[in-house]
Amino acid sequence: MTSAPRAPRVSSSLRPFGTSIFAEITALAVRHSSINLSQGFPDFDAPEFLKRALADAVAGGHNQYARTQGVPKLNEAIAGWWRRAGGRELDPHAEITVTSGCTEALAACCLGLLERGDEAVVFEPYYDAYPPDLAMAGATMRAVTLRPSDRGVFGFDAAELRGAFGARTRAVILNTPHNPTGKVFTREELGQIAALCIEHDAIVIADEVYERLTFDPARGHVSIASLPGMAERTVTLSSLGKTFSATGLKIGWAVAPPHLTAGVRAAHQFLTYATNTPTQHGAALALSGDQGEAYVRELLATYAARRRFLCDALADLGFGVVEPEGTYFIMADHTALSERLGLLGDHGAPDDFAFCRWLIEHAGVATIPPSVFYDDKAEGRKLLRFAFCKRQETLDEAVGRMRQALA
Ligand SMILES: Cc1ncc(COP(=O)(O)O)c(C=O)c1O
Repeated sequence: MTSAPRAPRVSSSLRPFGTSIFAEITALAVRHSSINLSQGFPDFDAPEFLKRALADAVAGGHNQYARTQGVPKLNEAIAGWWRRAGGRELDPHAEITVTSGCTEALAACCLGLLERGDEAVVFEPYYDAYPPDLAMAGATMRAVTLRPSDRGVFGFDAAELRGAFGARTRAVILNTPHNPTGKVFTREELGQIAALCIEHDAIVIADEVYERLTFDPARGHVSIASLPGMAERTVTLSSLGKTFSATGLKIGWAVAPPHLTAGVRAAHQFLTYATNTPTQHGAALALSGDQGEAYVRELLATYAARRRFLCDALADLGFGVVEPEGTYFIMADHTALSERLGLLGDHGAPDDFAFCRWLIEHAGVATIPPSVFYDDKAEGRKLLRFAFCKRQETLDEAVGRMRQALA
């Protein structure tokens, strides 16, 4: 006798978050043989020198548990990477913790540095791991909305940001360059955030996984940790995945002064204890050699061209494009197209899920409906997120399909 299927058992802290949007869209995309411009991973392979280093590490016998804070040569390579980007001199063994991707570093920060009842300020649209990470730590999220201005750049309202800080604020989770808007926070904006953090004695969890992917050479990425008074209250996170087209390697790191590193490591030792050893050896080579820097320069030039191509193509198709300053995502307004096609959501207005589904079913192109990244869903319904970290042929095919479907 087969027993009746049981209701899924999920802890109350995680129940509100359901299944990740990426799994949902991927399943739909597969059913319709769609081109995947939804999830942010390259459809081309990682560089040869990195793959060779990974294979050599396994063959060379680096296959046992690593030191919990990272294999020494990777910690040292990260310190060099940080220095070359203009950062302060770090103690590689006391101020850097290697984690299993930035994803683990984010969880370690929330679990190791926050208390139940604390509040954290987050900019929406937010990376989808932030709310569940805060919920697992028992902390409450206060969202501040980034909106596109008339000048076509996303920004926040200074009064709204100030209003989000209160007596219980203990942290800000700041992602710059920002997924999904492509915003690169300016020095002035970072200064406003830093001033509020100092006033409220809050820390910053700075998610900088797209640190090397910015498109205006005159205005690169600024780390909030580099602002006066901020190094001592910031944990800066990054990872190998975006910069080296190797999202599956899951090597991340958290840079923080020793008193904050203590909290990160307190959680990290029980989340994973240590990150995959051979991959750490391969990562050390990518981050320390000239080959790595040359690869990143070339990748950035490639992405700059693909960004230009897709922004122009989307604008030509009738989307309102907010040009990204960084990352490999484009947010595009589908209002005019949805109205033309009569595609409205239950709320009687253009809807990102309705348009996303239509594009999958009629054009065979998958994107992400970004309202899932907002507490205030209405803010995201007119937008779609496109990922351009794909081969040119993939982008050509996607644009061709959309052109046909929208004709
Ligand atoms: C803003 C942001 N933070 C963190 C991550 C996760 O990074 P990792 O793959 O290193 O865990 C991603 C991945 O898409 C991201 O976009």
